[in-house]
Amino acid sequence: MSPFDGLLDQLEQNKTLPDPEMAFLICSDQPDLAESLFTRARRVASQHFGRRIFPRGLIEFTNYCRNDCYYCGIRRSNRRAERYRLTKDEILSCCDQGHRLGFRTFVLQGGEDPFYSTTFLSDLVRSIKGNYPDCAVTLSIGEKEFEEYRRLREAGADRYLLRHETADAFHYRELHPAVQTAANRLRCLNDLKTLGFQVGSGFMVGSPGQTTACLLKDLHLLKELEPQMIGIGPFIPHQDTPFADEKPGCVDRTLRLIAILRLMMPRALIPATTALGTLDPQGREKGILAGANVVMPNLSPVDVRKKYALYDHKICTGEEAAECWQCLQTRLNGIGYELVVDRGDYNPA
Ligand code: 5AD
Ligand code: FES
Repeated sequence: MSPFDGLLDQLEQNKTLPDPEMAFLICSDQPDLAESLFTRARRVASQHFGRRIFPRGLIEFTNYCRNDCYYCGIRRSNRRAERYRLTKDEILSCCDQGHRLGFRTFVLQGGEDPFYSTTFLSDLVRSIKGNYPDCAVTLSIGEKEFEEYRRLREAGADRYLLRHETADAFHYRELHPAVQTAANRLRCLNDLKTLGFQVGSGFMVGSPGQTTACLLKDLHLLKELEPQMIGIGPFIPHQDTPFADEKPGCVDRTLRLIAILRLMMPRALIPATTALGTLDPQGREKGILAGANVVMPNLSPVDVRKKYALYDHKICTGEEAAECWQCLQTRLNGIGYELVVDRGDYNPA
């Protein structure tokens, strides 16, 4: 019995809480509250997924970006970023290696790079789906027009990751230049949903200017959007951005938010992110123990990894894909979980 059981029962049963109670869970740093929250989130995750963790093979295929988000190391204005692009053959060989290791989802992630036309990307998706009919293809390539999304979906892309970043329009303007709008981000998310993509959204925890009210809005937005995937991770400053001197987000708060999201959306696919593992050497394990059920190790060629630096000190930039698979399997086994060879699709009730 914990003094917080009433509150947590309410969250688990109603899948929501009134704002003041939710704010309390987000902000309280009482260790016994966090522990009860994590235990419960873990139990809910294991009811749906057992102790199975789904791996996604991340291929960071370009770090060119037309956007200028103030928090991001590959923003257009960062003249110090060393830019690279992978060819179709290079991307396919990452998939090849990934498939041999056991990955059954490939995530093609990149900056918003107009060099890759929708025709090129559609052809790439068709090739991957043709080579590996047992795999899911996830795109994470930013804001596009409905027609472009439609063609990518038609080419066989199954899923799309596009974090909403912040649900507060004022806060959105503190994080992005005026040409990048919260309204267009939401338009994109709705288009993706309409087209039948499994959609992933999410936000950074502790981004500059974020208040508790912003986080409450983030939770409301996610509840309304009902994405199949939810990615959250702590903000980490990058030295060559306007936010270089800002404080990083709080790991414990990120973990509480993972647990809250698990209780709000029991079947969601929630990664223990690389950013969490970057701020805390045990961050990904802690994420799993707070209710996450996905990990996203890198499949990009080792010689480009350091160049895909959204934030400073990113982990796993020197390891080969095989090393990360093994490393994660060992880490997960150590906490009683296992990495599985499975597409890990969203499974509606
Ligand atoms: N710290 C943490 N996460 C970041 N992202 C971008 N820059 C940073 C940073 N400095 C996140 C954004 C984006 C995702 C791909 O990475 O939320 O959507
Ligand atoms: Fe990459 Fe551990 S997961 S080295």
